[in-house]
Amino acid sequence: MSSVECRMSNEAAHMPLALYVHFPWCVKKCPYCDFNSHALRGEVPEDAYVDALLRDLDFELRDAEARTLTSIFCGGGTPSLFSGAAIGRLLEGVARRLSFAPDIEVTLEANPGTADAAHFREYRAAGVNRLSIGVQSFAAEQLQALGRIHGPEEALRAVAFARDAGFANLNLDLMYALPRQSLDAAAADLRAALALAPEHLSYYHLTLEPNTEFHARPPPLPDTDTAWTMQEQGQALLADHGYAQYEVSAYARPGRRCRHNLNYWEFGDYLGIGAGAHAKRTAAGVVRRRARIRHPRAFLEAAGTAAALLEDRAIAPAELPFEFAMNALRLNEGFALPQFEQRTGLPAAALAAPLDAAAGRGLLERAGTQVRASAHGRSFLNPLVELFLP
Ligand SMILES: C[S@@+](CC[C@H](N)C(=O)[O-])C[C@H]1O[C@@H](n2cnc3c(N)ncnc32)[C@H](O)[C@@H]1O
Ligand code: SF4
Repeated sequence: MSSVECRMSNEAAHMPLALYVHFPWCVKKCPYCDFNSHALRGEVPEDAYVDALLRDLDFELRDAEARTLTSIFCGGGTPSLFSGAAIGRLLEGVARRLSFAPDIEVTLEANPGTADAAHFREYRAAGVNRLSIGVQSFAAEQLQALGRIHGPEEALRAVAFARDAGFANLNLDLMYALPRQSLDAAAADLRAALALAPEHLSYYHLTLEPNTEFHARPPPLPDTDTAWTMQEQGQALLADHGYAQYEVSAYARPGRRCRHNLNYWEFGDYLGIGAGAHAKRTAAGVVRRRARIRHPRAFLEAAGTAAALLEDRAIAPAELPFEFAMNALRLNEGFALPQFEQRTGLPAAALAAPLDAAAGRGLLERAGTQVRASAHGRSFLNPLVELFLP
């Protein structure tokens, strides 16, 4: 083993480890969404799916060192289609296989159209301590244009159910630059979200993703300048209300950053189980990425075997600077060079050329070993990150 590999394998044992669990079903597919989500026909096969997830976790852990989980994220699709009993059985199964950090963050994504007071209480009792509610907008006509299965009242009700169930850590997902949305309407949406005092807000620019209905038949969207102004007005409103932006689309009250997502952006390790889930793991000096097959029925059959893998590859060291930068430069505070060395096993010198090129173009700022995108760089994140390509 080389000295770099030796350092990496020691470091990996100390790197935080997260677990992502994918739930691939939704009541109906939204026309803008390119996540691995499938309209549900019939009942959710929840027992079979939880069994498959645990088989998949056993497969994932076959060659893994024992490490402690710092966060779990149940994402989708729509995990809130599952009962509290099913989520409880999943979390118990995970706890039998891995140890949990005492302050572990356990998030579950909920769609307001599937919010249920009893389910929320059961999720909380099962150990979920953070809910992420997909509100998108508080305007009825916007929700309709987005093909959502709920109106504004259901979103308000979902937040009330969550608070009643004892959730002290809530995220709301909101999108802007929606079909025919005016600047005032975007501000009104954000104010409605702020009135609910969530601990965290994800504020996404609606994008037209390939292979979606909106991509094929784009709705009338605000122009680029208006969308830009919406983002700036949103940033100002959020800052006024005590939410600090820490990533391109993520804003949090003090101490309420999403630990799970931070781990992605800090290039930490994560296991990924479920249909279409992605994992990234560092072992013996090698960073590996794995992806599961995407179709729910095919996954149910293959879970627990190598047939559930769509991809399993080591990342070549030459690709690591780009992979790292693509994540870490999304963070407002960027990264420290020793963190790059710890997470990739490469010397900081491997970044010298792209850092010089980016600083020369005014895209980066450096202070000691800390590196971050400048305000200009945050507006041109793709060209900035491309400077780190091999
Ligand atoms: C995987 S979804 C999970 C939430 C849940 N399925 C729901 O929609 O209520 C995560 C979030 O990504 C955002 N999102 C999805 N597609 C998007 C797009 N094309 N552009 C911007 N944000 C998008 C939405 O805000 C959504 O709530
Ligand atoms: S409910 Fe969420 S995951 Fe499902 S299709 Fe809509 S945006 Fe995508």
